[in-house]
Amino acid sequence: MWTLASDVDGTLTGDRDALDRLAARLCNSRAQGNLFLILSTGRRLAQVLEGLAEEGLPDPDAVVCQVGTEIYPSPLSEDSRPMPAWRERLLAEYSREEALSFLEGIEGLALQPEVFNTELKTSCFLDECPDPEGAAAEIRRRVLPHADRYQVVWSSGRDLDILPASSGKGKAIRFLVELRDLDPQRVVVAGDTGNDAAMFHEFDKGIAVANAKPELLQLMRTLGEERAYLARKPYAAGVEEGLMHYGVLNGAADLS
Ligand code: GLC
Repeated sequence: MWTLASDVDGTLTGDRDALDRLAARLCNSRAQGNLFLILSTGRRLAQVLEGLAEEGLPDPDAVVCQVGTEIYPSPLSEDSRPMPAWRERLLAEYSREEALSFLEGIEGLALQPEVFNTELKTSCFLDECPDPEGAAAEIRRRVLPHADRYQVVWSSGRDLDILPASSGKGKAIRFLVELRDLDPQRVVVAGDTGNDAAMFHEFDKGIAVANAKPELLQLMRTLGEERAYLARKPYAAGVEEGLMHYGVLNGAADLS
């Protein structure tokens, strides 16, 4: 059995026809017992449920939400609660007040809406800062002495998250892989931005879609082709292409 842990926005979404094709193939693999599917996203659970109902997202076996600070096993519903074992582990190392203190006095910074600021995730926009990269670097510098408890995730030149050090998409997926006794050598991860980087660090079969942002492309170059496949196609078609590259889905990739 293979495991696919895929980001949602800009990785699965972006080309509905391609997503419909991929979702049908993933659904088929799951039905045959060949695939464990994890959606791994910055979205809240409610937005994942919307995506399942309206955007053609494939039915998953588990969902990692809010950039790896919440895990939900299927079946999913509006009443689903994040897995207590994961939540409690992270709560033990994280103080939201302290996380907020790292953001003090950064000119142009705007906190993200309240629903994206949780007890385990402190998120802001830096795109209105005079120098977003410089602001992100300054926040990283402040957090560094506390790296045993906090980490900074910087994505798309806009989104900055301060998360518990033990969280993030990569570690959340590792937790699920261990819990479900999945084979870590048969985990493929797919993404397009900086918050996906942790998955590429954690597992050695990555797919970056062709529309990936510079921060992920740079990581792809560092990791090398062996463990980081850069698809020629964007969005879901790129995920499908990568899955064929790794032999998770059969058939020759149509790269025309
Ligand atoms: C998603 C989340 C947002 C986060 C971003 C990058 O867009 O909604 O809170 O900052 O991913 O991780």
